[in-house]
Amino acid sequence: MAPVTSNTGPRHFLDLDQLGQETLRGIIDHAKAMKAGRMGLPKGGLDSDAPLSGEVLLMIFQKSSTRTRISFEVAMRQLGGGASDLDGSRLQLGRGESIADTARVLSAYGDAILLRTDHHANLLDMASYATIPVINALTDQSHPCQIMADILTIEEELGPISERRVVWLGDGNNVATSWIHAAQRLGFSLRLACPVGHEPDSNALEKARSEGADVMATYDVAEAISGADVIYTDTWSSMGQEREPDELAPFAPYQVTTEIMNACAPGAIFLHCLPAHRGEEVTADVMDGPRSRVWQQAENRLHAQKAILAWCLGTNAVSDGDE
Ligand code: CP
Ligand code: NVA
Repeated sequence: MAPVTSNTGPRHFLDLDQLGQETLRGIIDHAKAMKAGRMGLPKGGLDSDAPLSGEVLLMIFQKSSTRTRISFEVAMRQLGGGASDLDGSRLQLGRGESIADTARVLSAYGDAILLRTDHHANLLDMASYATIPVINALTDQSHPCQIMADILTIEEELGPISERRVVWLGDGNNVATSWIHAAQRLGFSLRLACPVGHEPDSNALEKARSEGADVMATYDVAEAISGADVIYTDTWSSMGQEREPDELAPFAPYQVTTEIMNACAPGAIFLHCLPAHRGEEVTADVMDGPRSRVWQQAENRLHAQKAILAWCLGTNAVSDGDE
């Protein structure tokens, strides 16, 4: 397989642990600036500099999506370009055309590729053969775009994330792995409490710890939530890994309840990448309560994606000194 990244190749956005701290910091700060810079404009209105004028994002979703798909589409529009939703089920990819050949062809039509797929290996394959940037829109292993919007939200609410503790409760899934990658790069404190058999990715944990990250995994909710600034959860049944109701029983102690939120500092907030399942991973009173910032978080997907696109396509001022 050809190398996924190189100093001269396209700027892929595949996983947070593959990017430097300075790059991630630059993307988040650029997202903040772009959000502030278009206050008062209609949602479909162009950013004043329209930095991606004439550019096209080709989007392949092999799994459902509301936020990622629509926020990337609107992001391209605001940046002055366009997005094409290729509907994974109607591509020849679904009839056996290889990812390599698809990557080569799409590289001739578009300026960047967005891929949501089951197998992380598909994403790496696409990145290996594409001559344009490839962006991870979620795989079975990770969901890096989500975490960029989450950090933007946390910093809007609580200031620099480097001074905060994020606590993950529930399934040790793809979103949890991207949180571990983020802690490895951005120097905040991360605690994860997950049931036996559903622990977070051990390789990601080991790598993060070996680089000095303040990351701890436990089975104990009370231990995890001590000092929490952010309580975060996600579905107990990820796409492609659906679980029967009786398989959800071990997750019950990890449900985010008002009791858990009340055990945190008064300023602690609740986040969820969505879609949410009230009565499973979170109670309705937390999801819709005063500490929840989930709608702001969902809106921030748009602003974060814009900064990711600008970085991938080389139009922003992010320093690449750490790449
Ligand atoms: N959070 C998130 O990625 O949502 P979608 O699955 O709707 O894109
Ligand atoms: N863990 C969830 C995230 C959805 C945005 C899933 O993979 O289905």
